[in-house]
Amino acid sequence: MTKLNFLLFSLVLAFFASCTSNGKQAGSDDPSRYVVRTEVPKRPAGQKDVLGLVTPKMDTVRVGFIGLGMRGPGAVRRFTFIPGTKIVALCDLHADRVEKTQTILDKAGLPRAAAYSGSEDAWKELCQRDDIDLVYIATDWKHHAEMMIYAMEQGKHVACEVPSAMNLDEIWAIINTAEKTQKHAMQLENCVYDYFELTTLNMAQQGVFGELLHAEGAYIHNLRDYWGSYEGDWRLQYNKEFRGDVYATHGMGPAAQLMNLHRGDKMNTLVAMDTKPVNIPEYLIEERGMDRDSAYQFANGEHTMTMIRTENGKTIHIQHDVSSPRPYSRMYQVSGTKGFANKYPEEGYALEAEMVGEDVTPDHENLSAHSYVSDEVKEALMAKYKHRIHRELEEKAKEVGGHGGMDFIMDYRLIYCLRNGLPLDIDVYDLAEWCSLAELSRISIEHNSAAVEVPDFTRGGWNKIQGFRHAFID
Ligand SMILES: NC(=O)c1ccc[n+]([C@@H]2O[C@H](COP(=O)([O-])OP(=O)(O)OC[C@H]3O[C@@H](n4cnc5c(N)ncnc54)[C@H](O)[C@@H]3O)[C@@H](O)[C@H]2O)c1
Repeated sequence: MTKLNFLLFSLVLAFFASCTSNGKQAGSDDPSRYVVRTEVPKRPAGQKDVLGLVTPKMDTVRVGFIGLGMRGPGAVRRFTFIPGTKIVALCDLHADRVEKTQTILDKAGLPRAAAYSGSEDAWKELCQRDDIDLVYIATDWKHHAEMMIYAMEQGKHVACEVPSAMNLDEIWAIINTAEKTQKHAMQLENCVYDYFELTTLNMAQQGVFGELLHAEGAYIHNLRDYWGSYEGDWRLQYNKEFRGDVYATHGMGPAAQLMNLHRGDKMNTLVAMDTKPVNIPEYLIEERGMDRDSAYQFANGEHTMTMIRTENGKTIHIQHDVSSPRPYSRMYQVSGTKGFANKYPEEGYALEAEMVGEDVTPDHENLSAHSYVSDEVKEALMAKYKHRIHRELEEKAKEVGGHGGMDFIMDYRLIYCLRNGLPLDIDVYDLAEWCSLAELSRISIEHNSAAVEVPDFTRGGWNKIQGFRHAFID
């Protein structure tokens, strides 16, 4: 071999060696490089977690309400039916809304409440009162975190409409305040109390679906008829400004309880994707006379999808769509190794035959997980697995109403747990996890749908409690 040939041969060898080593590098590439990292701020000194928080029992829960628009007065009305409560104060920007809500108390034969209105900050005076135990908030999203934090700092428990927080900064500030003050911060997620959801949760907890692997949830609701009704147009403006799933909690709540989030499992990463917006910009052009360019300066996608993977290898899929002409749906699907449940558009269960007890139907031969069980079997299953909360409250809840009764059950449970010194069904870490989708899904979308790390909002405590359970005194 000539010197030149030897040199060429060596170069070729070196080239192939480098290809092989590149190949090896690609194969053993560190996958964590592809995850957008999020920060978990250190827990401030002198603060401890509020997992399973219990606070002293109270005979009567004295309540102040802030926000009396479309949603708030219904809550006041429901409270007139809950024993052991006293409606002490009412607040809204508008005096006439406070006055109108007072008539609910008149009708119920209750004394009128102290009234606060007329300024942006009147709600602070309500929070400062020393005869209130619980501040109940039903204002627009941008006020939630500030009001919750201030109320807790004034020594009050706090319950706030969904979503209670809109970004990670707000979430950590709420967690830190709850941990510092050791006060309850409950997010008022009513959908976890609906009939099919609670029955199915009970079935899941009793193993009817085998091991749960996947859950789905959504908020699919065409809000075209409602856009004009929100105070100061806050909801449309929020969607105009922010991309991502800004209203994830109706889907997340039931899925999170099924998957025992921060009670033995935790979300590790999520990925999200959205479509371009069309129907809201077109609405802005048609109904509000906005010029096309301004109308299409709209951040929130028409349809947003988020997929989450948990520590225990489960998945959750959440969707958001408030402008397509689709029938209302919260999706609600549960898929396990032995069965499946689906709520929208029609409720149904599909189960391996062995999971349907003989007390439900002796006719095992005709059952098949290839299709839904018959209506009779479904009804028998739902009767057998009716949740204790529904057995105790269903009749009253249907009479009082509020989304078919689930709103009443939510409020009742909050008061029941406070009065009896029990942990609430929904704690501040639930609030954090369910609300975190707003910012985390936006980050993923803005990074070409890259995986985004979901912070452990419990800061290491996610495995302390095993399994989600509702608390009862006996
Ligand atoms: N869980 C559910 O099923 C459900 C249903 C509807 C609405 N919501 C939630 O309820 C909340 C309220 O929604 P809405 O439809 O009633 O909106 P809305 O605009 O009708 O009402 C908001 C009210 O808050 C008041 N407000 C605003 N700033 C205030 C301040 N500084 N001090 C006192 N009051 C103030 C407004 O005057 C208004 O009356 C939102 O978070 C929404 O997402 C939940």
